Amino acid sequence: MTARIRFEPDGIEAEVPIGTTIRHAAEGVGAQLGSACGGVCACSSCHIYVKEGLEDISPLELNEEDRLDSAFDVRPPSRLGCQSHLLKDRLYVVEITPESRDAYFDEHPDKRPK
Ligand code: FES
Repeated sequence: MTARIRFEPDGIEAEVPIGTTIRHAAEGVGAQLGSACGGVCACSSCHIYVKEGLEDISPLELNEEDRLDSAFDVRPPSRLGCQSHLLKDRLYVVEITPESRDAYFDEHPDKRPK
């Protein structure tokens, strides 16, 4: 059983085992998702908006909610990619926030568009 996920705005897609985090799914296909703390819920650089499939992602926990408080432009479908596990065999669609893309390019300056 696999989950499929599409990362906007680029449209990069991944197919991953059920239970994989959005951060790991992004990493596997080179989607531009920031990960400044290495995925331990200690920053907000992996902030995303879940456009499809929010109900089939692991529940928001208190420490994630606390971290999201320090993110920019938090909206109802906001989650942290490193804390969000894909739980169902379905298509998910997420938008990588500008904040997260900036963090990604800070971490990977060679990938920054010229
Ligand atoms: Fe730091 Fe997700 S990578 S909170």
